[in-house]
Formats: sequence, structure tokens, C-alpha cells
Amino acid sequence: MQNRIESAEQYKDFYAKSMQEQNDYWAMIAESFTWKKKWDHIQSGNFEDLNVKWFEGAKLNITENCLDRHVQNNPDKLAILWEPNDPSEQAISFTYAEVLEQVNKFANVLKDSGVKKGDRVCFYMSMVPELLFGVLATARIGAVHSVVFGGFSAKALAGRVKDCQAKMVITNDEAYRGDKVIPLKNITDEALNECRIVEKVLVFQRTGGDISMKQGRDFWLNELLADASNECEPVEMDAEDPLFILYTSGSTGTPKGLQHTCAGYMVWASETYKNVFQVNDKDIYWCTADIGWITGHSYMSYGPMLNGSTQVMFEGVPTWPDASRFWQICDKYKVTHFYTAPTAIRALEACGPEHVEGADLSSLKVLGSVGEPINEEAWNWYNEKIGKGKCPIVDTWWQTETGGIMISNLAGVTPTIKSHATLPLPGVSPVLVDSDGKVLKDNPAEGNLCIDRPWPGMARTIYGDHERYRQTYFSTYPGKYFTGDGARRDKSGNYRITGRVDDVMNISGHRIGTAEVEDVIDEHPCVVEAAVVGFPHNIKGEAIMAYIIASRESKSSEEQLFEDLNKMITKEIGPIAKLEKIIVTPDLPKTRSGKIMRRILRKVAAKEFDQLGDVSTLLNPETVDEIIKKVKS
Ligand code: WT7
Repeated sequence: MQNRIESAEQYKDFYAKSMQEQNDYWAMIAESFTWKKKWDHIQSGNFEDLNVKWFEGAKLNITENCLDRHVQNNPDKLAILWEPNDPSEQAISFTYAEVLEQVNKFANVLKDSGVKKGDRVCFYMSMVPELLFGVLATARIGAVHSVVFGGFSAKALAGRVKDCQAKMVITNDEAYRGDKVIPLKNITDEALNECRIVEKVLVFQRTGGDISMKQGRDFWLNELLADASNECEPVEMDAEDPLFILYTSGSTGTPKGLQHTCAGYMVWASETYKNVFQVNDKDIYWCTADIGWITGHSYMSYGPMLNGSTQVMFEGVPTWPDASRFWQICDKYKVTHFYTAPTAIRALEACGPEHVEGADLSSLKVLGSVGEPINEEAWNWYNEKIGKGKCPIVDTWWQTETGGIMISNLAGVTPTIKSHATLPLPGVSPVLVDSDGKVLKDNPAEGNLCIDRPWPGMARTIYGDHERYRQTYFSTYPGKYFTGDGARRDKSGNYRITGRVDDVMNISGHRIGTAEVEDVIDEHPCVVEAAVVGFPHNIKGEAIMAYIIASRESKSSEEQLFEDLNKMITKEIGPIAKLEKIIVTPDLPKTRSGKIMRRILRKVAAKEFDQLGDVSTLLNPETVDEIIKKVKS
């Protein structure tokens, strides 16, 4: 495979070259892609002016790189092995030639429905092949996809559709998820009552459930696809044209639509996939993420497709019909590369050893972890019970904003270190800074993780709000991208990510801002004030605790309030943001200027009562004891 890093020595050489001769390095890498026209400049712009560009002047279409070039060389190579939710339903596979046909049909449907280059198309679907085809079809005609995870609420969907001014929404009638049926079309209808900019809704019939279709607005995707031509020329895109927008939570405000570009993102998704996973021609790769998250974008829709891999796509959930489902799928397809999240590993471990013991798993060669720090216990179980002690585990640290993996070992190439992401990939220049922004040069060190030079896969802006992009990521430490994570670096330069240092929680690998949840809680008539924090949880990694000051008139019991709040949160955000616990308290610890001391609330929630630090300077230090008493009881 061209330019794949095959040894630790080569990693060192490539890394050094990427730092010292950046433009030559990326020119060498970019050579292996299909361009309609090559670049004029490899890279320009900087973090101060926040005008970063990569491969400027180049023309391309990412889907030619994902599909056409593989179809030319090897049309019958399997691309997608689709495993339905119900194991007794027929599985379906698609070769690269078949995926190209499906994508072309879908692209023609989009064009015929009036979608043009630059228009935003919103997907609210389950993990059916048509979601992947639709995403690539959108890219093929130069439109911009924005995928919304099918577990989000109508409100959350509406917010995203409105923010990116989507012209079209594509959804299922309903989705199968384990033993549940999710009414995606009904939720879409509810969402669209609030935003009338959407002209058309395409509905993919998956369950055949009873739904209503709005005349003139809603159309059956299946019917349109059946009639569409399977040829569609890819639209020529500029390197810096937007490819997609994906929403993620931050510490303040509404979710942010991170915008990624055609060329830089393509090169990043492709290179990182190739080097980190080391997938070979006959291998079977499986990433368990949903395409609604960035992992599903970079390491399903794009990375594996750009590299011509064969991959499994799974519609269902790990615990249905029982907790052996993942391992059965690994055996069924002889999966060699398996990429999942620590929360899934912990949840499956907790279901009991009998679910793994029946599985063979001898096809596995490489395991991956993503989404949150993997604790040593989960790492050991993954290594021993799933990898049988013989599979390198790649611990891949990255973010929606980074477009692809930033810090990770390379499978079988650079050393695996338990619970460590280890070393930066070529092109990535991480630095640790202290709270004053001073760069910590010596090893070992612990500090806030920043990146101090542009890389091809970085998001270029927050859709519609460049100033917010600057404020959020580039203002804390001027001249640097601040990740929001803390990290330790050992004496050999290996990184271990310790978790978020801002007001972002990581619930089962999903990012939720404390402010988002507080905004919902504050709407409850009995709530005077609320503060939300994350605290350690065995399976979710982190769970949500809300400290609540209830109004004097409030007659609801704590149980009732808890239930009410979770209903509201499910409706406004989605079930992933539900509270684990509430503490009703007469007061919250505040500084003299009236700021809630979340640091203390976090420590109390984690039951680290002896690590509260000095509380005497608080406006109301006595509150801390009261809260501790409540948490203990
Ligand atoms: C946040 C980004 C990256 C795709 C999935 C999540 C945490 C991610 C790791 C890892 C420790 C990790 C960080 C990061 N995170 N991977 N290997 N080790 N922490 O993407 O929703 O944008 O969340 O996930 O805290 O900032 P995201």
C-alpha cells in the first residue's frame, strides 16, 4: 500500500519529515489520490488569522477516490457487508461496483429533487446501507451532508436543520433498534413543524410501519431510487469547498456545526485509517459506530472506502437478541479489525463471561478504542477476552473538530501501551500547556492538550459563525488550537489522555455540554437554579448528576422531579443526556462574585470529599457540608 508506515523506524522518519518539510511531506502523500486538477499550494494560513487552507487550487471529488478508482481496478471487491438488526433477516453485501451504482442512483434522485452544489442535506436515519449511499451521493453532487444521530429528539433535529438551513431531510419510516422500533418519520414531522425551510423529505421504507406522508413534501426514497439512472458524473469541487457539517456539543451554547472540507479531510481520513489500522486486502474491518457521529464519518463512510477495504455495517445494538451479538458478528464475517468504544466494552463485560465464551474470535488481528479514555480494567478485558492477548489495541484519540485520528499507536508498527494513545500521527504537533498558557517542554509533563500547527483534517469553521470558532478553540491559548482535554506525557513522549478539562461531559463516549442540560432543567417550574456535572460511572464512563435548588412552592417529591426532568431532557435533547442522579439542595456553592463552583460539585459527585481544596473563600462555605451529607445519604 502506497506510503503506508510499516515500521517504527519509518514512523520516526515520516513524522520528522512531516514536521520539518511539511509541504514536501503532504505533496508526497497527496500524489496517490485522484485529482481533477492538482493543488497550487499545499498549505497556507495560520491559527492567528484562522484562515487555514490545504491543497488550495486543487479540484476533486471525494467519491471518485472512494469508489470510481477502486471500481476501475477491482470492481468485484466486497465493500459493504450489511448485517441487519434481526439476525434471522437476510444479510446483504455490496461490491464496490454495486456501491457506485447505488450512490449514482441516489445522486440522481437528489439532483432530480432539486438539490444543488452547496445545498445542505440532512440525514436522520438508522444504520441502513442507504444512509452510507446517501452520504456519498450528497458528496458526489457537491452538496453538503449533515447527519443527525437517529437517537436525538425532534427538538435536537429541528435545531440542527434550522442552523444549517437544510433544504432536504432524508429519513426512514421507522428504525429497528434491538427490540425497539423508533418512529423516525414521526419525529421528523414534529421537528419540521418548527422549521419550514425544508422543501422535501425523502423517506426510506425500512419497517413498512404506518406513517403519514405530506403531499408535495414527502416522497418514498425506494420508489425514486428504483427509477433512477445508475450513472452520475461526480461534480468538480474546490479543495476547500465544504464536504459536510456535523454538530457536536461544547461547554457553552447550542451545538456547533463543525464544517469539514473536501481535500484536507479526504487526505486525513484516508491516511489516518491506513496507518493506524493497517488493514490488508483480504481483511474485514468493522467499526461499530453510528454514521451520526464523526467516527462513522471518518472510519466508515470515508476512511475504509478511500482505501478500498471490505467493511461490516451493523444496523442493530450490541445487546440484542443477547449480549453475544458483537462476537457472533465477528465470527460470522471473520472480522479482522474491530473498532469500538470503551463504554461498549464495559457494558458487554458486565453482561457476563458466558456471552464471550461461546465465540471463536480467532479471526481478530487488531482492536481499536475511541471516544473516551479506556480504563485499565476494560483494556485488560478487551485484550485478554476479545484479543486473546495477541491483537494490538490502537487507542485512538481525536475529536469531531480534528476530522480524524490525531494521537494513536499504529497497529503492529509502534508499541501499544495500556490506556495510552501514545504518539502523534505525522502532521500532528501536540503541546501541553499549563493554565497560564506556558508550553511544558520537558518530559514527563501534565497539562492542557493543544495543537500548535494546522493539519489537513481540521475543521475550518463553525458553520455560519467563524467568530464562535475562534472564541471556542483559539482564544484560550492564542496561536494554538485548544482541545478541551487534559493529558500526561511520559518520559518517552507518549501521551495519556486524562479527560475533559472544560464543562463538557463524556457520557458513553457521547459529548454533552453541561449548559445544554442545565438549560432544559431550568425550564421546569419547580427549579430555581441547577448545576450539572459528570461523575465516574462503571459502564458509561461518566454519568450526569444535577444539583438543584427547588422553589419553596414546589410540592413534587424528589422522585417525581427526577422523572419529570428526564422526560424533559429526552424530549429536548435525547435519552443519551438523561440524569443518573439529582441532589436537591437549598443552595449551591458559589464564589463571592456569584459563580457556581463546579470544581467542588464535581469532586463531591465523585465522592472525593478529601480533595475539595480550600472552600473558605466561598460566599457560602456551609453549603458544601450540606451537599456532602446529601450525596452520602
Ligand atoms: C472527545 C471528542 C473521536 C471520535 C469520537 C468522539 C474524548 C476521544 C479518546 C481516546 C481519551 C478520548 C476526548 C475528546 N476522546 N477519543 N482515545 N482517549 N479520550 O468524538 O464526540 O468529538 O469527542 O472524546 O475527551 O475531546 P467527539
